[in-house]
Amino acid sequence: MTRLRALGVITAFGLTALALHAGARIAADREVQPAAGSAQGGWATRTVYACDHRKAVVVEGVRPDERLSPAKAQKVADLLGDLMRYCNEEVTARIATNETVTLSVNGLPFVAYTPGGQPPIELVKGKSDYTDRDRQIWKAELDKLVKEGDRLFHSDELGSNGLACAMCHPNAANTHPETYPKFQVEMKKVALLRDMVNWCVQNPLEGQKLADEDPRMRALEAYILVQRGGVPIEVGKH
Ligand code: HEC
Repeated sequence: MTRLRALGVITAFGLTALALHAGARIAADREVQPAAGSAQGGWATRTVYACDHRKAVVVEGVRPDERLSPAKAQKVADLLGDLMRYCNEEVTARIATNETVTLSVNGLPFVAYTPGGQPPIELVKGKSDYTDRDRQIWKAELDKLVKEGDRLFHSDELGSNGLACAMCHPNAANTHPETYPKFQVEMKKVALLRDMVNWCVQNPLEGQKLADEDPRMRALEAYILVQRGGVPIEVGKH
């Protein structure tokens, strides 16, 4: 009964949960009302979603509007980390008021789970890895972005005076993306790679600053980073 009710709530709520900027979703379980004024009140639960929204942890005994204690929040984070190993699956974990944990994968019945331990056999069976086709699609998407970055880096269209990035940085030489973020004396602040891209767009190229979400900025960053593949990251290095 408890299981069925928890599952039904997650499914219903999954459609309307709010996205939070932190990469996790924390949503109040609006359908389950706690007994007035009591965190222990029978059905009180709070549900936290992973960033893929296919993994959820239901914490029993916490009101929908109540902040989790640091210990509980850590437990939820650890559990979401565990669940993310079942990348393609829809998994729900429930932390009972007595701290026992149960898991349900793809809507199957809840089974006992020891955090950090071996997953129940039901989950291993349900596990499906990404296919070669998935990887090919991802690579093709990335290649497309890098190719566009390559084109922009060698073109004069980012500026107004005919200069191109590649005229001073052949093959992205001396762009040192692996050293960002770092303090830039000219800017008097810690700069991100994209700040330097814009600095060069505006100064030598006399072009318009690119917005963070500008597809051209994303393409330039991808191209510059790919050119420096294998170089160790040394944030802040001058
Ligand atoms: C006229 C030559 C010139 C052009 C054209 C130019 N840059 Fe630069 N770029 C520089 C100079 C000079 C620096 C400063 C080098 C330094 O700080 O070590 C620099 C620095 C950078 C850096 C930081 C490098 C580091 O070591 O921290 C990046 C990233 C960068 N440019 C990207 C670009 C991009 C992207 C374009 C095209 C939009 C571009 N640059 C166009 C001359 C140029």
